[in-house]
Amino acid sequence: MRALSSAAGGFPTGFVWGAATSAYQIEGAAEEDGRGPSIWDVFARRPGAIRDGSSGAVADDHYHRFNQDIELMGEIGLSAYSFSVAWPRVLPEGRGRVNGKGLDFYSRLIDALLAHNIEPFVTLYHWDLPQALEQEGGWGSRDTVAAFESYAGTVVDALGDRVAHWTTLNEPWCSAFLGYAAGIHAPGVKDPAVAFRAAHHLLLAHGAAARRINGPEREVSIVLNLFPVHPATHDAADEAAASGVDAIQNRMFLDPIFGAGYPSDALELIERSAGLGHVRDGDLSQISADIDALGINYYRTLVVRASPDASEPAEFPGVGNVTLVKPRDVTSMGWGVEPDGLREILLRVTDEYPAMPLYVTENGAAFPDRCSNGRVSDTDRISFLDAHIGACRSAIASGVDLRGYFVWSFLDNFEWGEGYSQRFGIVWVDYETQERVLKDSALWYRDLILEVGTGASL
Ligand code: FCB
Repeated sequence: MRALSSAAGGFPTGFVWGAATSAYQIEGAAEEDGRGPSIWDVFARRPGAIRDGSSGAVADDHYHRFNQDIELMGEIGLSAYSFSVAWPRVLPEGRGRVNGKGLDFYSRLIDALLAHNIEPFVTLYHWDLPQALEQEGGWGSRDTVAAFESYAGTVVDALGDRVAHWTTLNEPWCSAFLGYAAGIHAPGVKDPAVAFRAAHHLLLAHGAAARRINGPEREVSIVLNLFPVHPATHDAADEAAASGVDAIQNRMFLDPIFGAGYPSDALELIERSAGLGHVRDGDLSQISADIDALGINYYRTLVVRASPDASEPAEFPGVGNVTLVKPRDVTSMGWGVEPDGLREILLRVTDEYPAMPLYVTENGAAFPDRCSNGRVSDTDRISFLDAHIGACRSAIASGVDLRGYFVWSFLDNFEWGEGYSQRFGIVWVDYETQERVLKDSALWYRDLILEVGTGASL
């Protein structure tokens, strides 16, 4: 099969071509080898929490099949693989007792990746908080910060000899606002005050862990899910609504991480919903700990309208009654296909924040794939990836210091509240048999990597 090679040229030597997953979404083995429960194990048992009533208890059984999965990564030619460590596998109670078998799993995984010349990119937290910590207040409690710092230290001490690329947190906005305000992610709390506190504690935890990880051969980063946010019209009310959403979604995280403190509009929203008692002297300097790179997860652009008859979106507390305008061309998540937004967000971060190597740490799409006779002909995913990789190339041509691109996801997997109903993988998983099939998009990605790697179209 021929690649749609429009995206191939224009990438610097050493550009990282990867794919990403996260622990709870693929590992399974939820009760094996001493793993403790996470908030997602508990949340998934709540009636109605997960669209198909499923959980990550088995998922892709990657815990037992990682060697086979790494073979597939090798076939695709990935130069890097981004995965997360399950905190409750390493510290079943969240703090204190270390579970050697849990650490050993990641150690074996990393050795196998390195043996295949695949660079591990390790994320310490992709949403699976140990349930024991949630019982003590979870991210709403400041004590979770110290627990995270100590967990980070344990993992880095065990794996830091072989891992250069470290990410503290994946998408703290989701942990805080989907988990504690909208309640559609674990732990399913619906309390905006807790969500704002959680966001602050997540940022503090990032800073503490970044300091702990920092070292000469290590690249430390955080991954944010950033969105271009546009007003539906030039109307002042729409512009104010878009700016409020932008404050909570983007600037409330970017500004303090890059040393500018909370932007004043975000601070007003925080104060109105949660007060400022949880923000202490010295916190902002902890949050702005040195990092070496920023990861950006990009899926879509948000177009915002102020509507008096809408209700305030739970995930954007305090911004007033706004609606998100429905895009025309959508994936099966109902998310718009907007490759220009990726270029826009890369340029924005480059223009408005201190110079920093960037990675697109997640980008991809769910479509209603079908596997027939051992083939998944996912042309819509190929077009999606081609257009977004093209947007990366165009951003690089405009001066963005982009170092790598990771497809979300390597495997079809447990898509949180959507269960197994949404397939994001470039590798198909038959959940009955655990059989894997490279989708056409994986073969396309393989050809693209080969073409860029050999410099054929540069
Ligand atoms: C991101 C998450 C990832 C996956 C994709 C579709 O927000 O980081 O785990 O769910 O969305």
